[in-house]
Amino acid sequence: MTSGAVPEPTIDDDPRIGEVLLTEQQIRERIEQIGQQLSQDYEGEAPLLVCVLRGAYVFLTDLARAVNLPVEIDFIAVSSYGSSTRTSGVVRLVKDLDVDLSDRHVILVEDIVDTGLTLRYLRRSLEARNPASLEVCALLAREKADTDGLGVRYVGFRIPDDFVVGYGLDAAERFRNLRYIALYREDGT
Ligand code: IMP
Repeated sequence: MTSGAVPEPTIDDDPRIGEVLLTEQQIRERIEQIGQQLSQDYEGEAPLLVCVLRGAYVFLTDLARAVNLPVEIDFIAVSSYGSSTRTSGVVRLVKDLDVDLSDRHVILVEDIVDTGLTLRYLRRSLEARNPASLEVCALLAREKADTDGLGVRYVGFRIPDDFVVGYGLDAAERFRNLRYIALYREDGT
């Protein structure tokens, strides 16, 4: 705490946070739309939202409240990035689900589809557990990502190749708590 005219620095002042790609309001409005779509598509059902940790945890909390259905939630954690901004190419299961998927309508909630490696791994793993259905809902997908080929039914926004942070997405575990999504500038310039 300081007194006087100099404002306290905030987390938004970090030089590594670049241009804002998606504002809090844009994200909120798009999630409302997806929530309505899910409410229609799953009418009469109680789908299970599977949150892919850690990046999708913010998206999940807003999405779950935008869906007008008796949803249940569970969490799965995978790791493919370590602490860098490049995929290691190897997906590792870090935490498995607690819920039995057999005969459940499952919606896999992802933060971003980049190379699709994580998704292919998760799809294989979850399909083997005999859910009644399995769909994917990703907040973000790279413009280059073959979302149809990967079977991603719901996509919030398509974004270019640049690494982004905020709204659950991190760079070495930082910036998940930004309310918006911004470009990440590793060198802070
Ligand atoms: P994929 O396996 O290459 O599709 O990568 C998917 C995962 O990589 C996501 O679930 C994120 O955790 C992470 N990831 C990919 N791109 C970004 C990014 O721009 N910012 C933060 N995390 C990312």
